[in-house]
Amino acid sequence: MLKTFRRKTQEVTPVNNIVIEGGHKLSGVVHISGAKNAVLPLIAAAMLPEGVSQIEETPWLTDVCFMCDVLNYLGAATSYESGTLTIDATELSNATAPFEEVQKMRASFLVMGPLLARLGQARIPLPGGCAIGARPIDLHLKGFEAMGAGITISDNYIEARVNHLHGARIYLDFPSVGATENIMMAASLAEGNTVIENAAKEPEIVDLANFLNAMGAKIKGAGTDVVRIFGVEELRPARHTTIPDRIEAGSFMLMAAITRSELFLENVITSHLQPIIAKLNDSGVRIIDDIDGLRVLPAKDILPVEIKTLPYPGFPTDMQAQFMAYLTLAGGCSSIKETVFENRFMHVPELRKMGADITVRGNTAVINGVPKLKGGRVAATDLRAGAAMIVAALAAEGETVIEQVDHIYRGYEDIIGKLLQVGAHIREE
Ligand code: UD1
Repeated sequence: MLKTFRRKTQEVTPVNNIVIEGGHKLSGVVHISGAKNAVLPLIAAAMLPEGVSQIEETPWLTDVCFMCDVLNYLGAATSYESGTLTIDATELSNATAPFEEVQKMRASFLVMGPLLARLGQARIPLPGGCAIGARPIDLHLKGFEAMGAGITISDNYIEARVNHLHGARIYLDFPSVGATENIMMAASLAEGNTVIENAAKEPEIVDLANFLNAMGAKIKGAGTDVVRIFGVEELRPARHTTIPDRIEAGSFMLMAAITRSELFLENVITSHLQPIIAKLNDSGVRIIDDIDGLRVLPAKDILPVEIKTLPYPGFPTDMQAQFMAYLTLAGGCSSIKETVFENRFMHVPELRKMGADITVRGNTAVINGVPKLKGGRVAATDLRAGAAMIVAALAAEGETVIEQVDHIYRGYEDIIGKLLQVGAHIREE
């Protein structure tokens, strides 16, 4: 039976706290889910053709529910069964996105490109999302303006209007993931050709291009810094399978590494994980690339590491907090420089509560390894900070209570079930 997402949203409404008793080894197999950051733009892209598209390996996450709520509000129908999300975008009746959902999730701004392409107008509240910096949307808007849209901002809403989008040459001052995706979607149905220079190269961009091309779009160069989109008159619905979540995989690698455990991860694409694997190798962890997955073999002693976050293929900012939690137990002094977002060190005070020795100067955190962490009461201040608390708590002495865990449920499918299965002492309360 197909279920509507609105009902499911209530079903996944999370509990208040996650409680972890640390110090237990993990062992076994973890199945990695479809990627949150890939599926959200895929859902937006399904608005482009009239008709019914399907996205397999859709992870069961609150962010996916929020995105479906946005689509429902705009007139599309969504249903979910056994990991497959079905989206019927035959009728898009509304060009104004709902204030509450967009405030909750910044990625909902990705509906702007499809709305402009389908309806010639879009009215979207200024986006919210994780509190990790200013996160402007100027690059998205610069792209739409270059393609002929008129943009006005008033009463916390951004309004864009266009008779018909036309192709353009767009240089992004920063390789923004969201701007690259939004422009790719709009340009697919524009008249003429579009070139995005200094485009983001993340695997999620390639996944979106593959979905759009399956719909009949003509996109070349996705995954490089120049993406060319040859506009077509019409797109048709398509069926697509989401790529595995490289950030979820990286997070589980760190959970294995910090508890000195061996874990096997299935459903991974190793090349997407190279920047994370390289730094884990530097810390002494061995990763074996088997035919059907990756085996994580822990280091006896964790070596200190220097990290700088960068756009792909650099080290992902979405792994920074979890890696910091891991390095709190290294034998020496590590450093992490955050260059993608300002203000993404909110996990530092939480890690300090557990006994970590971390100093922040500007956009660099210096982590002096300590012999052990102790359990305590900490908060998941954002999604990846929440994952960092789980990493730390699994190795800490005693019990850790993680509050505000709704952030964690935005991006980690069945995190409790998966950790219980590999022997973690974890529960919800
Ligand atoms: C996506 C990911 C997020 C990840 C981020 C960087 C999704 C749903 N989310 O977010 O998990 O942390 O990529 O890898 O895929 N910027 C501007 N102007 C813009 C757009 C962005 O200045 O118009 C800046 C942002 O403030 C930020 C940086 O560019 O400092 C990166 O942002 P962007 O790549 O756009 O990230 P998101 O797409 O929001």
